Order: sequence, then structure tokens, then C-alpha cells
Amino acid sequence: MSKTVLITGGSSGIGYSVSRYFAKNGYDLIWISLLKEEIEEAKKLLQNEISNCIINTMVQDLSKPEAAQKVYDWIAVNKWKVDVVVNNAGYGNYGFINEIDLDKELNMISLNLVNVYKMTRLFLQDMVKRNAGTIINISSNSSFQPTPKLGTYGATKAFVNHFSRSLNEELKMQGSKVKVICVCPAAIKDTNFKKTNGMEKVKTFDGLATTTAEEVAKDIWKGFTKGKSFIVSGWKMRMLYRISGLIPYKVEQFLVRRETKEI
Ligand SMILES: NC(=O)c1ccc[n+]([C@@H]2O[C@H](COP(=O)([O-])OP(=O)(O)OC[C@H]3O[C@@H](n4cnc5c(N)ncnc54)[C@H](OP(=O)(O)O)[C@@H]3O)[C@@H](O)[C@H]2O)c1
Repeated sequence: MSKTVLITGGSSGIGYSVSRYFAKNGYDLIWISLLKEEIEEAKKLLQNEISNCIINTMVQDLSKPEAAQKVYDWIAVNKWKVDVVVNNAGYGNYGFINEIDLDKELNMISLNLVNVYKMTRLFLQDMVKRNAGTIINISSNSSFQPTPKLGTYGATKAFVNHFSRSLNEELKMQGSKVKVICVCPAAIKDTNFKKTNGMEKVKTFDGLATTTAEEVAKDIWKGFTKGKSFIVSGWKMRMLYRISGLIPYKVEQFLVRRETKEI
């Protein structure tokens, strides 16, 4: 019997690239994204590449309080069994915290943090009952340290790291086979992220450890199939992450500021 992966934001960027890996390996896909036209276009594109690939889609604003429950109920009504959930939909908000739009900040916290929490809780209960399944939460390298000009974004992703990794340890303590994987990609040069977030001129997308959606998707698939629980994606970012504990805070902040400034 084929397996099913639910991917939020599956119709573009990392979500689309990782969908290709799951589809090529026989998974049916469920995508939840914001823009109907983009979902339809992406669905056609992927089905042209992988003709027998099943993709069910739902247009939903996941920053809304009732969104996760609506997704869960829609899946229950259709009697689909979700084997893997990839909580990928998210965005950043670039600028000084005291100057950027409050509503955009609150919306981002709802999407990047509250929705990831709710989706994980909802789908986890069935996985725990079946003693099988994986939740993959997409965090960011901005979660590793305070990131001026991406301060709130980085904080939402720091939540994703601690929540996902603690939950994975708790599941191990309970003897469960369910896994939670936390993925931290470096800055990606070829997704909509930098445009959506007004970051087209920001150095980090052409900086120290830039990666691509394909490299991130490949790392996710490799980590998933090898049973990893923490994936730092992009080989340059992995090298930096390994030595980051040795770098004094002032030097680290100097480097972060250089990366997040506009050129
Ligand atoms: N790009 C980077 O440099 C980078 C680095 C580290 C981590 N990340 C993380 O990676 C994840 C994916 O980012 P990406 O680079 O692939 O960006 P992307 O191309 O902009 O993709 C974001 C996806 O999220 C969906 N989305 C956005 N707001 C939504 C909402 N309110 N409700 C439902 N879906 C929504 C979008 O759907 P529509 O297209 O329909 O709007 C899109 O499919 C994010 O969590 C991001 O924080 C990105």
C-alpha cells in the first residue's frame, strides 16, 4: 500500500523540491498552500514529471487560528492515513523589530510557530496510536543565534528547534517509533522566500553558506531515510555549525550583522 506525505507549502520552494523526492519514492502527496493558482500550476508541473503521482490539495491560510483543525478534519473525512507531515510553510519579516509591521509579525508567529505546534499535536496523536510516522519541522539557521533584522523570525524558528527536538526525545522515552525531525536550512538563493520577505538585496543570499532548495530537499530525504532527527542543511552551513560553539558572541554577532545587511 502506498504511503502519504502531507506537506504545507508544498507547491513552491523547499516544499516542492522535497515533494519530488517523496513522489519519486512512491508517496502520495497532500499539499496545503495559500495561493490556488500556484498550487494548480505546481501540481501540473510535478505530474508532468512523475505521471502516476497522486496530489491532493487544499487552499488554506495556515496563519488562521482554526486552520490546523480544518486540515486535520478534511483529511479525516477523506479517510487518508498520513504517514509523514512536513511543516514547511513559513516566512520571515526583515527589519528592526520596533519599526516593522506588527500585524505581519503576529501573522508570522501564528504561521511559523503556533501552526507548527498545532499541526504537530493533531497528527502526532494518530501516529502514536499506530506507533508509526514522522513529523518533519522546517526550522532555519536563524534559529542558532540571535539574528538582528530577523529577530522575531529567528525566535519562531528557535521554538521549532527546541519543541521538535524535545518532543523527539520524549517519544524515545516513551518507547515510541514515531520520529520528529528538525531541519535547519541555510539561506536559500532560489526560492520565493527572499522576495516575499523584502530581502532581495540582503547579503546572506549570496553569502557565507548559501544553499539551494534542491540541496535542502536532498538533505531532508537522506536524513529521513537514515533515521536522523536533526538536519543542518547545506554543506557549508554544516561546517559553520560545527565550529559555531567556539566563536565568541561578539564575533558571531559581527558575522551575523554582516550577513543580514543590505548590499
Ligand atoms: N529560503 C530560505 O532562505 C530559508 C532558510 C531557512 C529556512 N527556511 C524555511 O523554509 C520554509 C520554506 O521556505 P521557502 O524558502 O521554500 O519559501 P517559499 O518558496 O516562499 O515557500 C513558502 C511556502 O509556504 C506557503 N505559505 C506561506 N504563507 C502561508 C500561509 N499563510 N498559509 C499556507 N501556506 C503558506 C507558500 O504558499 P504560496 O506559495 O501558496 O503562498 C509557499 O508554498 C519556511 O518555513 C522558511 O522559513 C527558508
